[in-house]
Amino acid sequence: MKLILYFYIFFLFLLLGPAVSAQENNEPVETRVGKLLAQMTLEEKIGQMTQIDFSVISVENGQDADDPVDQAKLDDALFNYHIGSILNAPTTPNNKAQPIEKWRNLTQVIRDTTFRTRLQIPVIYGIDAIHGANYTRNAVLFPQAINMAATFEPELSFQEGKFTAKAVKASGLDWNFAPVMDIGRQPLWPRLWETYGEDVHLVGAMGEAFIKGHQADDFSAADKAPACLKHFVGYSFPINGKDRTPAWIGERMLREYFLPGFEAGVKAGAATIMVNSAEVDGIPGHANYKYLTGILREEMGFTGFTVSDWEDIIRLYSRDKLAASPSEAVKIAVMAGVDMSMAPFNYSFYDLLLQLVKDGEVPLSRIDEAVSRILRVKFQSGLFDRQQPALAAADNFASREAVELNRRAARESIVLAKNDGQLLPLPRQAKVLVTGPTANSLSVMNGGWTITWQGNKDELYPQDKPSLYRALLEKAGDRVSFVGGKRFEDEINIEQAVSEARNNDYIILALGEKPYTETLGNIETLDLPPPQLQLARALQATGKPIILVTFGGRPRIITEIANNAAAVVLGFLPGMEGGIAMADILYGDVNPSGKLPITYPRDTNGITPYDYKPSEEFESNRYWPLYSFGHGLSYTRFETSNLQLDKTSIANGEDINVSVKVRNTGNLTGKEVVMVYLHDVAASVTRPNRQLKAFRKVELKAGEERTLLFTLTWRDMSFIGVDMRRIVEPGEFRVMVGNETATFSVVKN
Ligand code: BGC
Repeated sequence: MKLILYFYIFFLFLLLGPAVSAQENNEPVETRVGKLLAQMTLEEKIGQMTQIDFSVISVENGQDADDPVDQAKLDDALFNYHIGSILNAPTTPNNKAQPIEKWRNLTQVIRDTTFRTRLQIPVIYGIDAIHGANYTRNAVLFPQAINMAATFEPELSFQEGKFTAKAVKASGLDWNFAPVMDIGRQPLWPRLWETYGEDVHLVGAMGEAFIKGHQADDFSAADKAPACLKHFVGYSFPINGKDRTPAWIGERMLREYFLPGFEAGVKAGAATIMVNSAEVDGIPGHANYKYLTGILREEMGFTGFTVSDWEDIIRLYSRDKLAASPSEAVKIAVMAGVDMSMAPFNYSFYDLLLQLVKDGEVPLSRIDEAVSRILRVKFQSGLFDRQQPALAAADNFASREAVELNRRAARESIVLAKNDGQLLPLPRQAKVLVTGPTANSLSVMNGGWTITWQGNKDELYPQDKPSLYRALLEKAGDRVSFVGGKRFEDEINIEQAVSEARNNDYIILALGEKPYTETLGNIETLDLPPPQLQLARALQATGKPIILVTFGGRPRIITEIANNAAAVVLGFLPGMEGGIAMADILYGDVNPSGKLPITYPRDTNGITPYDYKPSEEFESNRYWPLYSFGHGLSYTRFETSNLQLDKTSIANGEDINVSVKVRNTGNLTGKEVVMVYLHDVAASVTRPNRQLKAFRKVELKAGEERTLLFTLTWRDMSFIGVDMRRIVEPGEFRVMVGNETATFSVVKN
């Protein structure tokens, strides 16, 4: 009888539960946050601020188990520590992409368990889905960010965001640690390729588009998910090029180069922000009150929550010696403005913060503030709606449209840097030798965060996606021969390559880097590893025309090889469709349209960016890269002309309209990126020689001409003045498009 009564109560609870939350659904988010917060104990609040790695709740070797959740450990996490978030794939550090059904089941187990907790607060499950859902097996894995930037097509970034959010949600996951809004101005840094390149405007445009696709206006929708801007701020500029090492960025540089991307992301509605794992001007990101609270909250008006990076709060003590104890580290980080701690392997953050609040060292008001921000995002994400299990996988995961988008993005992201005597496209009947360490591997085209963290397990890559060699074989059959291995590491027999080269008309030499990310990708020089140079020199000696193809995340120095090559095609990390896309370009089935989103250095110290200062191009100083930012050839030709401005002078707050004609003067349909640069001729702070302020990619048939209109805003003319405030100074400005320049002046009111 007692049992029946229990069942009755249980079913009544099930019936009423959703009814109550449905009613609450109509209330404004702020009301719901306030009501929930009022019911929470201190322990429950601090739990919300704690994020653990999946391994903490996993059975041993969870990456290989069908049911990886250890229910007892999960119960401990949720009932004893009330944790608010989980991250990562089973099981760190051996994490690897999991089948979608497994993801759906394991996240459902977590969801079901949260519904048994006192307040039924959902866990927000975060994942690095930085080029598609890279931890779900068989996901569509797009070109990495550096390639997306090379497309100069924000629409592609928008679509990537849209398809990635769908794949994340179909995997039962809630939250994506993307996009990276760090600006890529340090070519040695092993995460350069995770950025949208070196330009302020391009970074903002690509990131904003990604967020809009990923979140839209309402990310409670079943196929949308909150994004996470990272890593706030200055992470990408380590002075020695090594990951997680100091940057020295003055306030003006911070505001002119490093903040605008994040500002664009916040404006686009990004729900969360991850903190810089390193330090700027001697202050670790996680201790930087001025950045995390002063700039991010008070100036930029960010209302979402901040999450620490991996284990970084405790590192204020264990690495940086900023704190004298683990407890002080927690206090500093929380008081600086970190809302959630990616702990991630234990509950020490929880224990220490609880004690700090009890001891009056951290005020409850700060806890309430952080928890409100977390709950707000959880409500906005629709996580409290228990009627909503994972999004259906059919049509949302690995859809035909996503694959097509991926191929298009890969094709548009490849940069034809050199093409002497129009050697490319290759004639179909030509006999071609393919060789080099990046010729026959999928991992070298995908980079880190692919199936595994480092992305280097070729054996786990999908069998149906061709490497460059296999894609060429599919196109040209037995006219293609190959010397090399299956992995980057496999040694290449130089003698064999040379003798094979003699039987062929052309050599496609594929060089570059193996996959990597974070500190494991640190290097001592941008020079290519010596065996690659040896191979290149031996092949050059044959006198056969060389088409140099590169894959990899950084601009490794290729100057000598490129100078001796007839053609150079820069692939960077074009993703799973990279082999097909590269083969399409080499044989002219696709007309290349990618443009460099970074300056490609000629030498190891060639780290001057395109928007250099006057003194960097003065006397014997030169901006003399191998390939400039924005460079990229086509199989047709384009000309811009008739650059016009609608005014010759403007006053306070006014915009100026720019028009320019672009014409395809060649014989093929092609895509061109028209770039509008601005230069402030004289100012109280030295100004860059030019800065990209607007761009548009257009497709034109042979002979077709189009007039493009752009608007330059007052903000485009501004800079960070002597007093650190954004200003526009009166005087002359130059607008540059192609070979033309037009001038206007800003007059005093
Ligand atoms: C990386 C972040 C990433 C996080 C979670 C960190 O090591 O710096 O970019 O989001 O791990 O995987």
